Amino acid sequence: MTAVDARPATSTGTRPGTGTGLRFPTGFRWGTATSAYQIEGAATENGRTPSIWDTFSRMPGKVHNGDTGDIAADHLHRMPDDVQLMKELGVTDYRFSVSWSRVQPTGRGPAVERGLDFYRRLVDELLANGIRPVATLYHWDLPQELEDAGGWPERDTAQRFADYADLVARALGDRVPTWTTLNEPWCGAFLGYGNGLHAPGRTSNLAALRAAHHFNLAHGGAARVLRDRLPSTAEISLTLNLHALRPLTDTAADLDAVRRIDAVANRIFMDPVFHGRLPQDLVEDTAGVTDWSFVRDGDLEVTSTPIDSLGINYYSPSVVSAGSSASPAPWAGAEEHVAFTPAAGPRTAMDWPVDANGLYELLTRLRDELPHLPLMVTENGAAYEDYADPAGEVHDPERVEYLDAHLTAVHRAIQDGVDVRGYFLWSLLDNFEWSYGYSKRFGIVHVDFASQRRTVKDSARWYAEVIARGGLARD
Ligand code: FCB
Repeated sequence: MTAVDARPATSTGTRPGTGTGLRFPTGFRWGTATSAYQIEGAATENGRTPSIWDTFSRMPGKVHNGDTGDIAADHLHRMPDDVQLMKELGVTDYRFSVSWSRVQPTGRGPAVERGLDFYRRLVDELLANGIRPVATLYHWDLPQELEDAGGWPERDTAQRFADYADLVARALGDRVPTWTTLNEPWCGAFLGYGNGLHAPGRTSNLAALRAAHHFNLAHGGAARVLRDRLPSTAEISLTLNLHALRPLTDTAADLDAVRRIDAVANRIFMDPVFHGRLPQDLVEDTAGVTDWSFVRDGDLEVTSTPIDSLGINYYSPSVVSAGSSASPAPWAGAEEHVAFTPAAGPRTAMDWPVDANGLYELLTRLRDELPHLPLMVTENGAAYEDYADPAGEVHDPERVEYLDAHLTAVHRAIQDGVDVRGYFLWSLLDNFEWSYGYSKRFGIVHVDFASQRRTVKDSARWYAEVIARGGLARD
C-alpha cells in the first residue's frame, strides 16, 4: 500500500480556523461509502458466480470501454489496507454492501461460508479500528440465476431476498449495528428494467413497475427478518435516491409534470414503505401500462414494516416541465408528459449540475413528511477529472468545493430541525462507476487501476480535517 499521510493539508486553503465554523452535533456519523461490485473484484473467487452486473458488463456496448468489475479496486485482497486508510482519515462509520453472489451464489439455499468469511473479516477489521460497520444487503448485483428465473419483476425474488437477508444477519448480526436493506431501488427498477441502461438491461415499463413493487416487498420482508434476527439495538434502514424536483415555471402544466415524476420516482417507494399505500395518482398515470394486480392483499402491510431510519443519496436536482422526453427514458410512460431542462451552473465530470440546495430541499421535505424518522445522507459526492501529478499528488479543489457546499446544506437542514444523524461520502475509492466503467472517478482516494496504487486526494485530507473538527471551518 502507498504510505498515507492523511494529516491536514496545507494546499487546500481550508485549515481549521479560529472562526466560528459550522459545528455538527456530537455523535454525528462521518462516513464513507462503497459497494461490493464497484470495488471488490475477485469475481470468481471462493465460489462466487456471476451477478447481473457481471453479465451486463460483458454485453457489447453496455459499459464504457467494455470495463467489468472483475478486478475493480481489488478491495477483496486489499481490505485491511483500505480499512487503515479510513482509520487515518478518522471516519467513524463505513457503509459497504454485501455481494449476494458471493454469499449465496445461486440466490437460493445455504450460504457459502468462504464468501461470508470476507465480510466477517471486514467487520472485525472495522471494529478493531474503531469504525462502525453499516451493511447494505443489496446494491444492484442480483445473482444471475435469479434474473434467469425472472428477476425483480417476479414476486419470488422478494422472498429470495428475505432468505438471503437471514443468512447475512445470522453471520454478522452480532457485530453490525446498522443495516440497510436496499440501495436505490429506483435505479434497480427503472434503469435496470425500464430503459435498460443498467443491468440486467431490459426495456419494459411493465417490468419496471413490477420490479419497483417487488423491491418494496423485498425491503419490508427483509426488514421483518432482520428485526427478528438482530439484537433489539440494531438500526434497520433503507436507502432511496429521492429525486429533488423543481418545476421550470409555476404554470399548472409544469407543476403537474413535477407531480408525475414525483409519483414515479419518489412516492412509488415512499408511500408503500412509510404509509402502507400506493400513490393513487401513480396508479392512474400508469393505467395504460398495468392495473397493478401484482400487488396482492397484505403486501402493503409488509412493505410498511416500521424501520428506524432512512438513507438519502443525493447528487443533483432535476428541472421538470410539461413536454416530452427522448427515449430511452426511465419514467414508465410519464416521459410522454414531461421534459427535463439541464439546471444552470457548474457541472461535475458526470455532467451533473452542482446544486446543494436540492439536498436541503429533500431533507426538509422529509422532516415535514416523516417528522419522527432519523435520516442519514448515505451517499453524496462528485466525479471530476482527477489525476496524480508528477509529485504523486491529486489536487481536486472542485470536489472540496462540492463537498463543502453539500455539508453546508446538511448543516442548514439540521439547524432547521431535520434529524440528520450522519453523512457518508461517496466514495472512499475510485471505482467501477456502472455503465461509465472506470472513466469516472468519485473517490477521495485515487486508485491507479493498473498498479492498484492508492493515493489520498486533497479532498480526503480536507474531509479528515472536517471530521477532526466536527464541522466546517469558516474563517
Ligand atoms: C449512486 C449509486 C452509487 C454510485 C453513485 C455515483 O446512484 O448508488 O453506486 O454509482 O451513484
